[in-house]
Amino acid sequence: MTVISTVVPTYATISLAALAHNVSCITEYLPPSCKILAVVKANAYGHGAITVAHALAKQGVERFAVASLAEGIELRQAGLNAPILILGALFEEQIPDLVAHRLTPVVSDVRILPALTKAVCAHQAPYQIHLKIETGMGRLGLSTEELPALLDSQILRSPLQIEGIMTHLADADGEDGTFTERQLGVFHAMLEQICLRGLTVPLVHAANSAAIVRFPTTHFSLVRPGIMLYGYHSLPSSVPAPALRPVLSLQTRIAKLRTIPQGGTVSYNRTFVAKRLTKIAVLPIGYADGYNRLLSNRGTVLIQGKRAPIVGLVCMDMTMVDVTDLASVQIDEAVTLIGQQGAESIGADEVAGLLGTIPYEVLCGISSRVPRLYESAAHGG
Ligand SMILES: Cc1ncc(COP(=O)(O)O)c(C=O)c1O
Repeated sequence: MTVISTVVPTYATISLAALAHNVSCITEYLPPSCKILAVVKANAYGHGAITVAHALAKQGVERFAVASLAEGIELRQAGLNAPILILGALFEEQIPDLVAHRLTPVVSDVRILPALTKAVCAHQAPYQIHLKIETGMGRLGLSTEELPALLDSQILRSPLQIEGIMTHLADADGEDGTFTERQLGVFHAMLEQICLRGLTVPLVHAANSAAIVRFPTTHFSLVRPGIMLYGYHSLPSSVPAPALRPVLSLQTRIAKLRTIPQGGTVSYNRTFVAKRLTKIAVLPIGYADGYNRLLSNRGTVLIQGKRAPIVGLVCMDMTMVDVTDLASVQIDEAVTLIGQQGAESIGADEVAGLLGTIPYEVLCGISSRVPRLYESAAHGG
């Protein structure tokens, strides 16, 4: 586990106990035959892919998925030996690196197959690939015409071997399940095409987090949770929510306190004008840390377990909050921007709501300037 010892005022805490809890929570939805393919792309949604993947592996997760070749190489070089699937687009010139690092490609376009075959032709053992079928996401994937043609062609030759077949659902978290059912119908028709040709594909997967909860028919041999691992979901309110625990908290400390008179202003362009004698706390975090500027004059933070409103524009490296209504606030005092303090909490979903976005973007947006500190599962964090 990586523990950053540098003393820093602004940091994110990653609770490996919460991560483990969320894995157990996901597992409860699944039959024993269905396993987790953990989605750790985008630096594990901002949580730190290397530590998160190793922690998940320790907990028994056997497979991982990332978006890009570079993300896969980073995990391999960090000693993760498990199968790593590259979900995103691959380009011909990336194939040698893919093979050198034993990464599993998701083939969405037949054009990479000749280069892939050439790169693995010296291999004795089969080189596993997954095929992605486009069933309604309108993104990557082989069309329903391309797949049968590919299966009948000579393009897929030994040592390439189809280990997996997958699709991605566009609306598993929407109110209405009709489109998901339609996508699953198309996917089943493609699985039938494989069956008809006497082929056996050991790994079949379609479910993201929302589908894990809502569509048990998507529990094939694998499911691909991302956001649920990290403690959030995007389910409509009509669906009972899983009991997840947010993994990440974002913390800082008060760097400076000042009192401004009625009519005094704060930050660039003077968008906050004090209506009373106002006590301002300056926080060493800003939009360069991923604390979005659209939170200016809108967001709140937690100090002494109470909410303090952001006043003025969030700057690149600093944010100011109004602490007039808090008792005896001190310099150095702990500030929680995402997470729990006493009985109060601010979730990444609440922050996302203020920004008109989703918790995914809030979590992924926390920049590399913010060190991630890991609380081990043993500490119960
Ligand atoms: C192909 C694929 N599968 C699974 C996931 C995980 O989705 P979620 O985070 O909603 O569980 C993603 C995330 O975007 C994805 O692109």
